[in-house]
Amino acid sequence: MSFNIAIDGPAGAGKSTIARAVAGKMGLIYVDTGSLYRAMALFMVREGIDLQDTGAVIRKCQEADITIRYEGGVQMVFLNGENVSGYLRTEEVGHAASFVSVIPRVREKLVELQKRLAAESDCVMDGRDIGTCVLPHADRKIYLTASSAVRARRRYDELTAKGESCDLEKIQADIEERDYRDMHREASPLRQAEDAVLVDTSDMTVEEVIDRILLICNTKAQGRNRKGL
Ligand code: DC
Repeated sequence: MSFNIAIDGPAGAGKSTIARAVAGKMGLIYVDTGSLYRAMALFMVREGIDLQDTGAVIRKCQEADITIRYEGGVQMVFLNGENVSGYLRTEEVGHAASFVSVIPRVREKLVELQKRLAAESDCVMDGRDIGTCVLPHADRKIYLTASSAVRARRRYDELTAKGESCDLEKIQADIEERDYRDMHREASPLRQAEDAVLVDTSDMTVEEVIDRILLICNTKAQGRNRKGL
C-alpha cells in the first residue's frame, strides 16, 4: 500500500510550491494534477476546439493521450508523446483548463490516471478534488487556502518580477472568477474534505507553511481540529 498526501485548495494558494517542497523533504513523488487538466486544455486550444462546445471537447478528448514521467525527480507531462511541460503555465492555458475541467468525461479520464499514479507510488498529490474524490482514503489531507486579495498580490509580484506588466485588480477578478467556476461546477467541485486540515496561508511565509504541513503529515492525530493545528 502506498502512502499518499492530498493537498487541495483554490488557484494561487501556493499548493504547487508547498507540495513540491513537502514531497522533497519527505522523499515522496510530487504529482501536480492541475498540469494534466492544463495539458488537456492545451490540446483543445491547439486543435482549435471551441471550449464552450462540450460535445466537441468530449469527442476530442478521446484523442489526447496524457502521461507523466519523472526526469531527475521533476514531473514532465507528455501529450501524445510530446513533452509539453514548458507550455502549461501560461494564463491562456490556465484559463482554458478551468473550462475543460468542468466536463465530467474529461475528469474521468484524468482521475483514472491520478488514481493509478497514487496506487503505484508514495506521493504528495495536489489539485481541487484529491481529498474528496481522487484519493478519499489518503493518509493525510490538507486544504490550503488564502484570501483572494493575498493570492492576487502573490501572482502580481510573481509576474512583475518576471518583467511582465499586469493589473492587480484584473488578476484578483480573474482569481475570483476561477474560484467560482471551480467551486460551483457539478462534477467534483472544489471543497474541503470532512477530514482535511485547513491551513490558511494568508499571513504565513512559505517556510512556515511547509513546517506546518510537515508537522501535520508527521502527526497521527489528523482530523482532530479542522480549523488547523
Ligand atoms: O492548479 P492549476 O491552476 O494548475 O489548475 C488548472 C485548472 O484545472 C483549474 O481551473 C482547476 C482544474 N483542476 C481541477 O479541476 N482538478 C484538479 N485536481 C486540478 C486542477
